[in-house]
Amino acid sequence: MTCIVTGAAGFIGSHLCRRLLKKGFSVIGIDSFTDFYPKWIKNKNILPLMRDKKFEFIAEDINSVGLTKLLNRSDYVFHLAAQAGVRTSWGHNFSVYTKNNIEATQKLLEAVKDTKIKKFIYASSSSVYGLCPELPISETSPLYPFSPYGVTKLAAEHLCYLYYKNFGLPLVSLRFFTVYGPGQRPDMAFHKFFKTIAEGEQISIFGDGKQTRDFTFIDDIIEANFASLENGKPGETYNIGGGTRKKLEDIIPIIEKICDKKAEINWEEKQKGDVLHTFANIEKARKDLNYSPKTQIEDGLKEEWTWLRLLYSS
Ligand SMILES: NC(=O)c1ccc[n+]([C@@H]2O[C@H](COP(=O)([O-])OP(=O)(O)OC[C@H]3O[C@@H](n4cnc5c(N)ncnc54)[C@H](O)[C@@H]3O)[C@@H](O)[C@H]2O)c1
Repeated sequence: MTCIVTGAAGFIGSHLCRRLLKKGFSVIGIDSFTDFYPKWIKNKNILPLMRDKKFEFIAEDINSVGLTKLLNRSDYVFHLAAQAGVRTSWGHNFSVYTKNNIEATQKLLEAVKDTKIKKFIYASSSSVYGLCPELPISETSPLYPFSPYGVTKLAAEHLCYLYYKNFGLPLVSLRFFTVYGPGQRPDMAFHKFFKTIAEGEQISIFGDGKQTRDFTFIDDIIEANFASLENGKPGETYNIGGGTRKKLEDIIPIIEKICDKKAEINWEEKQKGDVLHTFANIEKARKDLNYSPKTQIEDGLKEEWTWLRLLYSS
């Protein structure tokens, strides 16, 4: 069985490739190495996988790569490639988001619709809920994206759904809630906190620190992707949260304890596009995917710290 993983050199994509290879799948990874964060970090994600004969890597943009040939020798598609990041999605940068999140998804879906792909799994985001007034948020809760990024993730999700409806493409959307752990992107809070505290610099917290997030450990996200191959129902959307809703201000002492250093905090104004709370109702994923997040935040953060020390010391 062969899987295509888009965004293979990224945080989540590289973990997924590793796991698929371990399970005996052949993997075709596609990634264009966008410049959102340094290429050397993505190389560290992907280079160890290159040793595996069952791994083929294509360093190209989904918008221009010849997809049909690749799809014709594949069984499954995990579509993770995207321009991530809420705060950078304003202003002239928005075109990067439309190109990589909407146009690339449309190109991929167009190519997939004429193939025999058995399952297409789209990496959506809790950002599609935005200012949703309900907590916990379930899949039927209203969608009010609050950032341009969220709008593009939702647009791509809608595209996926209409290719399912019109062409019967067996498509599943997974809405990930704030993912952390080894490999986490350098723009994300825990990565920045650990790195900045270790360097003895001030960390910035935007807002009053009382905002909450449903943090999801990377291994749990990978399990959900895996389970979706077999059990994800075509046309359905699933919340994939970690079952750990924490205030940002309560994370700081955990991080201080792990890296054995006191944080100096620079309190800054809440950023445009940041929502106050996210909290996933994961009952649907529990039922259909047998999804059950396993990692406690303290353990997951320890793993991220161990990885970060290696990353910046080598
Ligand atoms: N990390 C999170 O907390 C989180 C939460 C919700 C949803 N997601 C979604 O999960 C997916 C993976 O996120 P991540 O955190 O691993 O991000 P990432 O930036 O580490 O990985 C994305 C990868 O996609 C590649 N890429 C972007 N556009 C491309 C294109 N047009 N063609 C080929 N490659 C392209 C980038 O080079 C990058 O390596 C994204 O779709 C993101 O929206 C992530």
